[in-house]
Amino acid sequence: MKTGIMDVRTRIAGTGSYLPDKILTNFDLEKMVDTTDEWIVSRSGIRERRVAAAEQATSDLATEAGRNALEMAAIGPEDLDLIIVATLTPDHFFPSTAGLVQRNLGATRAAAFDLEAACTGFIYALTVGDLFIRSGSFRTVLVIGAEVLTRFIDWEDRNTCVLFGDGAGAAVMKPSDDPGQGILSTHLHSDGRLADMLMAPGGASRMPPTHEVVEKKLNTVKMRGNEVFKIAVTKLSEVVDEVLQANGLREDEIDFLVPHQANLRIIQATARKLRMPMEKVIVTVDRHGNTSAASVPLALDEAVRGGRIKRGDRVLLEAFGGGLTWGAALVRW
Ligand code: UT7
Repeated sequence: MKTGIMDVRTRIAGTGSYLPDKILTNFDLEKMVDTTDEWIVSRSGIRERRVAAAEQATSDLATEAGRNALEMAAIGPEDLDLIIVATLTPDHFFPSTAGLVQRNLGATRAAAFDLEAACTGFIYALTVGDLFIRSGSFRTVLVIGAEVLTRFIDWEDRNTCVLFGDGAGAAVMKPSDDPGQGILSTHLHSDGRLADMLMAPGGASRMPPTHEVVEKKLNTVKMRGNEVFKIAVTKLSEVVDEVLQANGLREDEIDFLVPHQANLRIIQATARKLRMPMEKVIVTVDRHGNTSAASVPLALDEAVRGGRIKRGDRVLLEAFGGGLTWGAALVRW
């Protein structure tokens, strides 16, 4: 194994995604809890979200997204050196979801592990993949953000159940031949003092999954939404400044924003910070809801396959979520 960060950039050689077939609309939710389509759209921008089939777990969604990314990168599973899955809804505590994806893909040579940084998971995974490639340890890395969040939602709590959805997105990372192309910088942050603002309190070692915990639905997502909203806007604004400063760029030198898809109003605030018209912002929150670690790679894949993001574009990826965690990556496509 070679060591030391090399003077090489990591490019994204292919993207992929997968969404389950079942669509749950705001009108469906109106029949389940005391809410309205009007409230959900005006507060969050969400109109519908996908729900995994009963037999589907996170690794199934992740495998499909990974397969699509391998196809675009024109490589086979045997070419993979490493698979990282970012998820807060793994199939099991162990083994890792990444190991199951490795098995499903037949990526026999690859190492595999999961990474948990909630909604910021894909940005963290991209950063780790970039460092493995630039260190010379690995040449071909598959990073996936995948969630089946709808299994960990209290469907009687209107504060949270209208927000989340299922899905997976993936990216194949390889060394770039062109020094101008690839990941230009990555920026990771965390503030564990704010951990209890957005969490599933029960179901793990702090509060094992007893009957009582499950009956009280303490193993589901709890969020102090309005407080999280304000911190997200502030921290994403700070991280945008950090990206611009680190790369010596002005706002108008960023071509596309691929934000975490939690709330359209948070996305609009970040776009305003970048003085960027909404045509340059990739928005999927209306159709996907908040898919946590899957949201950024799902949006990225849609923009790449739709022909919006093209070679040479400067693309800013950012996310914010539980932990609390937040981060960004700037990529020259
Ligand atoms: O992805 C990880 C990071 N997560 C985020 O970034 C999410 C951040 N937070 C948000 O997106 C927003 O805070 C929400 C969409 C969750 C909520 O929007 P808000 O403008 O912050 O509303 P709020 O929490 O201040 O709630 C306002 C009212 C409350 O009623 P009262 O107390 O004012 O009478 C809620 O009970 O809206 C009520 N409410 C609802 N009403 C209808 C909450 N949920 C619903 C609902 N339908 N589904």
